[in-house]
Amino acid sequence: MACGEYGEGKMSDPSVIAEEVDKYFLTQKNNKKFKALVTAGPTNEYIDPVRFITNKSSGKQGYELAKSLSKKGFDTTLISGPTNLEITKDINLIKVETADEMLVATQENLPVDVAIFSAAVADFKINKKYENKIKKQENLNLNLEKNVDILHYVSNHNSMRPELVIGFAAETNQIDKNAEEKLNKKSCDWIISNDVSNKDIGFNSDYNEVTIHYKNKDIKKEKLSYKKKSGISDEIVDRIIDQLN
Ligand code: PMT
Repeated sequence: MACGEYGEGKMSDPSVIAEEVDKYFLTQKNNKKFKALVTAGPTNEYIDPVRFITNKSSGKQGYELAKSLSKKGFDTTLISGPTNLEITKDINLIKVETADEMLVATQENLPVDVAIFSAAVADFKINKKYENKIKKQENLNLNLEKNVDILHYVSNHNSMRPELVIGFAAETNQIDKNAEEKLNKKSCDWIISNDVSNKDIGFNSDYNEVTIHYKNKDIKKEKLSYKKKSGISDEIVDRIIDQLN
């Protein structure tokens, strides 16, 4: 070596070198790395200091997406609701609990080139959270208020809108129809639908099978077949890189 060190050496595999070169050139513009933001996991909406309403999400799909983006060279921020998962240090992890906190963290981390909303955000919060633990009683009426739709907010944000805004749709029936409705209603560029009634995929599973619904492409939808959530994420990120170049 130039530094004077000697001994047996081995060049990295050419495919690894090619991948690194691709990663360098395909995930930057004007010498700046592409920036990505991912939301993941559920949110907790407190009723009183000890009880909350939540959604059924482990965060696995979102964490895998953040890992795939970072692996490909994106400067990645992961905004996560409560999960038991860990993430590598190269990813900027912001932990939140409620939908309001997820919204603020998202606003604080724009602008980005691509934003992916895989979180299962609770649609409602308690209109007025009880300050003390509610005593046991026969009936309890809760007054619920709609949470801000973070995906819709970002898609319609004129000055800070990412070039690519991607939402997810967790569906149990009429999956294509519901996903396409969400694509239009939320003004995003892609909606990725998954069938959460199938116990082998979706919530908490390590596996998934998804369909990407595109707004402005010749092909309207594309199915990514059953595989690990890490593999699904790699395939999604390859398509994101194509779209941004
Ligand atoms: O976390 P896992 O166990 O791995 O499971 C993965 C998953 C099933 C949670 C994930 O793949 C998925 O489908 N995430 C979206 C779940 C969902 O709640 O979708 P939705 O149909 O309610 O919402 C549609 C889109 O709007 C989503 O991108 C959601 O993040 C977004 N949204 C919804 C409400 C809200 N207040 N703000 C939002 O940003």
